[in-house]
Amino acid sequence: MTTLAADESALVVSARCTGPRGFSIGSVLVNPPVILAPMADITNGAYRRLVKRIGEPGLLVTELISTMALHYKSARTYSMFDITSNQHPVSVQIFGSDPEIMAAAAKIAVDEGADIIDINMGCWVPKVCKTGGGAAMMKDEATACKVVEAVSSAVAVPVTVKTRAGWDYGKFATEHFAVRLEAAGARAIALHARYAVQGHTGDADWSLIARVKQRVKVPVIGNGDIKAPQDALRMFEETQCDAVMIGRAAIGNPWIVRDTVALLQGRDMPPPPTLAERGVVALEHVTDLARTIGEPVAVRSLRAQLPQYVRGYPGASFLRDRIVTATTIAELATLFEMHRDYALKHMDAA
Ligand SMILES: Cc1cc2nc3c(=O)[nH]c(=O)nc-3n(C[C@H](O)[C@H](O)[C@H](O)COP(=O)(O)O)c2cc1C
Repeated sequence: MTTLAADESALVVSARCTGPRGFSIGSVLVNPPVILAPMADITNGAYRRLVKRIGEPGLLVTELISTMALHYKSARTYSMFDITSNQHPVSVQIFGSDPEIMAAAAKIAVDEGADIIDINMGCWVPKVCKTGGGAAMMKDEATACKVVEAVSSAVAVPVTVKTRAGWDYGKFATEHFAVRLEAAGARAIALHARYAVQGHTGDADWSLIARVKQRVKVPVIGNGDIKAPQDALRMFEETQCDAVMIGRAAIGNPWIVRDTVALLQGRDMPPPPTLAERGVVALEHVTDLARTIGEPVAVRSLRAQLPQYVRGYPGASFLRDRIVTATTIAELATLFEMHRDYALKHMDAA
């Protein structure tokens, strides 16, 4: 982990992104200011390692981790940390609503290697909201602030919050909520610029990120609808945010992180990955995951993600249909090879 001296901590990325400068969250330097978004069942250890190696983002975030499950010592939940030396700096995202349980979970996360603790206040799925955590925290700002205070007092690492624009569509509560979270101890605010009731529908409204940025002193991380590196540049320019966070566009596409970083740093865009490289990386992904959760479960759990590596190529749907029945990595390797032959033939013919 890289840390900044206090007098350097004012270093923030230029809104015009003219250089490879980062910014700091508390003592943690995030450089470059490109962050892999937390995504359940996606940003596990294997994928974080892959994105770090290929994309070199300034920060990785784990999938959301249940503090209740940690409280009850769920072995499966403990295995979700999977923080290895090649992931730092890494933020562990936790959810729940009980300040004491959240604080205890944050300590565990730090013991497991977290450089930052992120509190989920944006997940809208009923399973999470019914615990009072996730986006439901926006409906109980007093408890949300108690949680931030309790977690901040429990750990020495910085505590951040990832939230949404508000709960109800059009009620931009976060403009004020963010100020309260900052006062409670949040050292950065990540804003997914949609309302909770929207889920992932409709467009993210980046003007809301700009408004939060004007209200708080801590760094603001912009999130929502970065689909290409140029979108990241546009988000910096339109919102003056301190960092951009990329979610769905990075699924099966770690190269978007690499390309975004290159664009921000003014470097030449690296050549796009070849089809062969895409297959190799997809297999690397599943092989790494198999090390932690076993081959059959890894193969099953990546059925939806692996075809994303060849999205847009001829025969991608053929591959998707076959992968559903695969049970081993060897079978996957054969399928990717068959797909490559098919796709190259049809690309030549086109
Ligand atoms: C499959 C999936 C899982 C997600 N899981 C989480 C999560 O665990 N924690 C969280 O804060 N947000 C989660 N999100 C939301 C993303 O972090 C991000 O805010 C959202 O996808 C918008 O960014 P994007 O347009 O770049 O995808 C998830 C999104 C998706 C698509």
